[in-house]
This record gives sequence, structure tokens and C-alpha cells, in this order.
Amino acid sequence: MNHTDLLNIAKTFGDPVYVYDSGKIISQFQRLTNAFGSVKKLKLNYAAKALSNVAILKLMNSLGSGLDTVSIQEVQLGLLAGFKPESIIFTPNGVSLEEIEEASKLGVRINIDNLSILEQFGSKHPNVPVCIRINPHVMAGGNSNISVGHIDSKFGISIHQIPHLLRIVEVTKMNINGIHMHTGSDILDIDVFLYASEILFETAKNFKNLDFIDFGSGFKVPYKEGDIETNVEELGKKLGSRFNEFCKEYGKELTLAFEPGKFLVSEAGHFLAKVNVVKQTTSTVFASIDSGFNHLIRPMLYGATHRIINISNPTGRERYYSVVGYICETDTFASNRRINEISEGDILCFKNAGAYCFTMASNYNSRFRPAEVLWHEGKAILIRERETFEDLVKHQIDVKDLFAQKKEKALAK
Ligand SMILES: Cc1ncc(COP(=O)(O)O)c(C=O)c1O
Repeated sequence: MNHTDLLNIAKTFGDPVYVYDSGKIISQFQRLTNAFGSVKKLKLNYAAKALSNVAILKLMNSLGSGLDTVSIQEVQLGLLAGFKPESIIFTPNGVSLEEIEEASKLGVRINIDNLSILEQFGSKHPNVPVCIRINPHVMAGGNSNISVGHIDSKFGISIHQIPHLLRIVEVTKMNINGIHMHTGSDILDIDVFLYASEILFETAKNFKNLDFIDFGSGFKVPYKEGDIETNVEELGKKLGSRFNEFCKEYGKELTLAFEPGKFLVSEAGHFLAKVNVVKQTTSTVFASIDSGFNHLIRPMLYGATHRIINISNPTGRERYYSVVGYICETDTFASNRRINEISEGDILCFKNAGAYCFTMASNYNSRFRPAEVLWHEGKAILIRERETFEDLVKHQIDVKDLFAQKKEKALAK
């Protein structure tokens, strides 16, 4: 997919628009699979939260991926996309017992991350196998919002609570078929994965009927120019051989599971937006685009950097711009960034727009959410229409003349 293809997509489907390259998703899936080639039973469960368009889920299903879900709605989207219930794992945090029971009724695998729900679920459904999310107390991840395996984190059952956990399992006679951890996103250092894995292996020895160990995710992908990424090949070699060794100790060929989001879809995504205004102030040149953090919140939420390319003028002289959105508060995508000369009407392409971009989009400022397009085998396929005014008011209830009298009184004054 080159710049001309992207410009044609913006022309055909309008802007702003998200574009996903299926080829990149497929090659990332294969890359991670190959990296763990030494492991007999490997299962990648795509983390649906990263990008949950049903077309993307169908693509993942066709690759043999499972699905990691965090809400009953993601479970339903997975089933709609054709995943078998047993290929879906439900890994929620802080949801009600009822939601977990609803997922269990649909036949998906259950991952529980707190002792209270574990005890309640185990007492009511001792025959349903359950995976346990462990908190290994490891500080990992690109920033505090996405570091989730440390001691102050709300996620997982503390490794210091294993005795309590074992008592619940013994009393309820429930069957623990998997153990799981996810310590954060954007983890560069593979030693962090290896260190946390040892904690998981130690924990696993407490459970005799495991089928799988799920190491979560958190692989870092390059965002900025010159960024380095998690070396999944080296991790595959080291963790793969350690895992095989552990399976021998354990006496059973277990499945090694991961639940990657970013690694599979981040780089496949491109967000295209038009420049409405080039505004020169006394200090800055602003390029204001026909979008805002309502469509792509990561820069404002996490301080994330997305590379921005002026695909309408990719060889123009480079100048410094602050790229901003139209939202009624600070809405900055990039400050003083060198970009090829921008004119009003140019199309800017935001890279790494596959993961946690559309799925975090909102209608703030009463704007429509953008269209989504899949680029597959040289063709652009619309996979979500741009919203319309009808979508904005669809679920609002018209109060008719409820305030008519009030208005009449106010006018009479
Ligand atoms: C439990 C769990 N698994 C997997 C992921 C996916 O992480 P990443 O997108 O870094 O691969 C997340 C991300 O928040 C998560 O919370």
C-alpha cells in the first residue's frame, strides 16, 4: 500500500478514515508464530480490544488465532466473527459475577483475576474449568497507564495470596486449567518477560491439571523513527526452550499462550486526515486537521508519538509544524514536528494507527466516528461506514414539548 493508494482511499471513502493493511497483520502473526517455533503447542489469542472491527476478527480467525476478550460484548463480537467459543478467552477485570456467568454460558474459557469472584464462581460452578490471572509484582510497561503487573495494580491475584487461592480451590473443588499474567504494554526488555515467566512457572507447580500457561502480551512495536522493538525472535528462543524444559518438569505438554494486540495490528493501521487550516502564530505554525482526540486519543491520553507523513507532498521541503485537532480544548497530535511542507487540503497520514485508536474513538463534540477500510490483496474494502447525524441521535429520546410551558413563561417576562 503506497501513498497513492492511501490518497485514493481518502478520495473514495472521504476523510478522516482508518485504513488497515491485512498483509502486515498476517506477516506479524506469522513472525510471532515462527519465533516460538520450538514450542509444540502455541496459541496466540488476539486481544480484541486493540481493534475490534468484525472484519479484523474474521481475519484473525482465518489465521488460526484465538481471541482474548475483556467484555461480554467483545465475546459476542468474536462469536459473530465465527470464533468457536472454546477459542475465546474471557479476561475481564472487576466485572460482575453475572457477566462472567453469561460468558461461561456461551461456552468461552474463563479467566478470573480476584479471589472474591473466584470463590463465588467456584462455589456455584465447580465443574467449569477456570484460568487464574496472577499478579507477579513486576514493574513493566511503557508508562504508568499501561503498567499493570506491579504491586499497586488492580489487576490479577497477588503471588502473595497463593495460599488463600489454593484454599478456595480446595474447598470449592474447582478445576484450574490455566494460569495467566499480563504485566503491561510496550515492554522492550525481554528479561522482564523471562523474569516474570519464572514467577509464573513457580506458581504453576501448585496446580496439577493445567492445560496452558498464558504469558499475556506487551510486545513493544516501533512508533518513532529509529525506535527499537521487543526482540520477539530472541524471546521466542529463550522463553520457548525454558517453557519446553518446564513442561518436562511438569510432566505434560502444556500450551504456551500469548494475547497480543499492538504487535499484530498497530503497524497495520493508517489514519488519514485532511488539513483544514495552516495557521501561523507568532511562535508556531499550526496544521489543524479535520479530526481530534475524539478519533485518535493516544497522544493526549498517553503522550504517545505517532509518525505523521504528508502524503500529499512527501518530498516537499521539511518545516516545523504543530499538528492539532478541532476539539474545544488542548488537542495536540504533535508539537514542532518536522513534516514535508503542508498546504491546506493536504492529507496527513498517522502511522501505527491500528491498535487502541478506532476502539478508543468517541463522539465528543458531537462528531461522527470515522469510516474504516481494509486494504486486502490490492483492494480497498469498506468495513465500517462513517457515522451520520442519525447515529448521533439514534438512542436519544425526544422529550417533545416537556419544556414548552417553561419557555412560554420565560418569554412572557
Ligand atoms: C489482559 C491483556 N492482555 C493483552 C493485552 C494486549 O496488550 P498489547 O496490546 O500490548 O499487546 C492487554 C492490553 O491492555 C491486556 O490488558
